[in-house]
Amino acid sequence: MQAVLWRRYGAPETLTLGNAPKPLPGPGEIRIRVHATTVTSGDARLRGCRGAGLFWLPLRLVFGLFRPRHPVPGMEFAGVVEALGAGVAGFAPGERVFGLALRGAHAEYLTMPETGCVARQPAGLSHAEAAALPFGGLSALVFLRDVAQARTGERLVVHGAAGAVGVHLVQMARHFGLTVTAVASARHDALLRALGAHQVLDRATRDFTEGAARQDIVLDAVGGTRFGRVRRVLNPRGRHVFVNFGARELALMLWTRLRPGPRVLCGHAPGRQTDLLALRDLVEQGAIRPVIGRRMPLSDIVAAHALVDSGRKQGALVLEVIPAGCPHPA
Ligand SMILES: NC(=O)c1ccc[n+]([C@@H]2O[C@H](COP(=O)([O-])OP(=O)(O)OC[C@H]3O[C@@H](n4cnc5c(N)ncnc54)[C@H](OP(=O)(O)O)[C@@H]3O)[C@@H](O)[C@H]2O)c1
Repeated sequence: MQAVLWRRYGAPETLTLGNAPKPLPGPGEIRIRVHATTVTSGDARLRGCRGAGLFWLPLRLVFGLFRPRHPVPGMEFAGVVEALGAGVAGFAPGERVFGLALRGAHAEYLTMPETGCVARQPAGLSHAEAAALPFGGLSALVFLRDVAQARTGERLVVHGAAGAVGVHLVQMARHFGLTVTAVASARHDALLRALGAHQVLDRATRDFTEGAARQDIVLDAVGGTRFGRVRRVLNPRGRHVFVNFGARELALMLWTRLRPGPRVLCGHAPGRQTDLLALRDLVEQGAIRPVIGRRMPLSDIVAAHALVDSGRKQGALVLEVIPAGCPHPA
């Protein structure tokens, strides 16, 4: 099968398009014909094995100490169930599915455990739209619901609101009844208002930490905010939440836990099937819609990674493995 090959850690050019063996579904696994995948900030980070500070070593232990252990990268996918391993009861051939893998999605075929982060696609979406949901959507759900423990009526600032995580945070927070201020470059203004932000601040000209308004949650989706400044606009029970964090933020999380006043919180979105089902429900209720900033063919993998590395991505960057409208893939 055609696949992106990942032989060593490094720049986008270390990735090539080539051939890899078609994976066989083991017991309890399904094989998916991948129609669409994406390049996420997580893929770019893994490609170079760039873990912030302390996380470099655990990443290498999981993915390979000196070179990638698994030759095919890729996390988000949408496609059609094509074959079942022994004992699979929850899926049938021909079903449209989407989900989040640890690796292997940048290929024509992918195997997943049926109990993994995979589910039937939300009704009415294209494969490209379904592939644009899991990474940002699951992160937003876990960080809002579990890490920040957001409550209806609270005031929230989303810093980095136009990225894959940010566009889901804005929509979800609005749906859960929070008052949302989105911080992003001016070029994203119309999109963020359409997604439900009550206020959009241009990050080049407005500093939300100088505002008079008291916030309950500041959710930093990309990094760059400082607790020393953010605490000025937080309520005494406010939370400064980091999706992207390092040793400094972890130390602040411990420190603020021991003291009264606003807290710093960090976390991890693990990619659970139950959360994927909750995300699907939100999409089917019309609370969340996928945001695709760019579409490319799988063969543009190097350019796609370079774009994600630029840090300027809007929503998801979708790679079409089978172009939309292709009648019947081999
Ligand atoms: N802990 C976890 O479990 C977890 C899960 C998912 C993601 N993450 C991490 O979360 C981060 C964000 O992920 P993502 O996928 O949303 O990223 P992304 O899609 O690449 O988002 C990039 C966005 O951030 C904005 N941005 C760039 N620099 C900025 C800055 N200095 N201040 C404010 N906005 C800035 C850009 O918009 P402009 O046009 O405004 O520059 C762009 O829209 C990544 O570091 C990722 O590794 C962590």
